Amino acid sequence: MSLKNDLLLKTARKEQNEKTPVWLMRQAGRILPEYRRVREIAKDFKTLVKTPELATEVTIQPVDILGVDAAIIFSDILVIPEAMGLNYEMEENRGPVFPKRITSVSDISSIHITQAEELNYVLEAIRLTKKELNGRVPLIGFAGAPWTIFSYMIEGKGSKTFSQAKKVLYTEPAFAHQLLELITQSTINYLRGQIAAGVDIIQIFDSWAGILSPEQYDEFSLKYISRICEAIHEVPKTVFAKGAFFSRTNLNSIDCNVVGLDWNMGIEESRRLMPDKVLQGNLDPCALYGSLDDVKRETKKMLKSFEGAYHIANLGHGLYPDTEVDKVKCFIDTVKGYRK
Ligand code: CP3
Repeated sequence: MSLKNDLLLKTARKEQNEKTPVWLMRQAGRILPEYRRVREIAKDFKTLVKTPELATEVTIQPVDILGVDAAIIFSDILVIPEAMGLNYEMEENRGPVFPKRITSVSDISSIHITQAEELNYVLEAIRLTKKELNGRVPLIGFAGAPWTIFSYMIEGKGSKTFSQAKKVLYTEPAFAHQLLELITQSTINYLRGQIAAGVDIIQIFDSWAGILSPEQYDEFSLKYISRICEAIHEVPKTVFAKGAFFSRTNLNSIDCNVVGLDWNMGIEESRRLMPDKVLQGNLDPCALYGSLDDVKRETKKMLKSFEGAYHIANLGHGLYPDTEVDKVKCFIDTVKGYRK
C-alpha cells in the first residue's frame, strides 16, 4: 500500500529535504492520558506489549493526538533477551529487572538464538498497526543494539555504570563476543520478521554506547551494529548510539541511512563528521520543560542549524514522562510550520 505521508522515508532515502519530518522517541507513553488509560486496562507494561490490539492502539495514539509523521511500534528492546531465554519483569517506578541473568560462559547453554516467530506477538501488533494506520504514516520497527542488550543480560537491571557488563569486556572478551554474536543473530532474525510483517524503516537503539571507550565501542558494539545493517536491505536503517560522540566518524562509514544524534553532539560538528548520513534529532528533552515561547525558540534554533542537511526532527533521547503534552505539540507544530 502506498503511504499518504512518506516524508520520513523520502528524507531517510535523501529523496527530499524541503520539509522536515518529525517524530519523537517515546512518543507513545506516559505523557499521554490516553496511554495511561490503556495501560490501566492492560494492568501492566508486559501485558500491554504482548496484547496486539492494545499495543496497536497506543502505537497509533501519537499519530492522532500529536500529529507526528511516523508511528513507532509499541514494544521494548528487552523482548529479545526474553525470547532468547531470559525473562524480564518491568517493575513500577524501578524499570526492568531480570530474575535470572548471564554471569558466565556456562549460562550461555540456557539461551538460544531467537527466530522471529518466537516474537509473534510483536509481528501481529505490526500487522494490525499497518492495517489500522491505513497508509497514513510510515511505521518504524526497532531493536536494541547488541551491546545494550548484552549490558542488561549481564547486569540483570539498569545501572549507572554498567560496570559488571564492562568488566566482562576486560576479563573475558571471548565470552563477550560469543554472547554478542548470539544477540546479533537473534536481532537480525527479529528485524527481518518485523520487515516481513510490514515496518517501513528500522531503528537500532544503542542506549549504553556512551560508557565505552572509542576502541571498545568499535570492537564490542559498532562491529555488531554494522553486521545487522549489512544483513538488512529492504528498508532504510537508523542507528541511534546515545553518547557515542567519539564514534561519529566511524558511524559515517557503516551501512545505515540515518544516524540519530543526542543533544551532546553538536550539530555543526556532526554534519562535518557525518557528511554521508541523514541526521536525526536532537533537541534536549528537558528543553520541553520551558515555556511555549522557549520551546518554539529552541526548536527553531535546532532547525536552523540543520538547514541544508537531510534532517529528521526528533529529541536527543526519549521524552520524559512528566513532559506536558502542549509542549510536545508545540515542538511538533514548530517543525511543521518552519519555512526554510
Ligand atoms: O514510543 C516509543 O518510543 C516506542 C516504544 C519503546 C519503549 N521502549 C516503550 C516503553 C521503545 C522504542 C523503547 C526502547 C527502550 N526500552 C530502550 C532504548 C531507548 C532508550 O530509552 O534509550 C531502553 C533502554 C529500554 C528499556 C526500558 N524500558 C527501560 C529502562 C524502561 C524503564 C524506564 C521507563 O521509562 O519507565 C522501560 C519501560 C518502558 N518502555 C516504558 C515505555 C513506554 C514505560 C513503561 C510504563 O508504561 O510504565
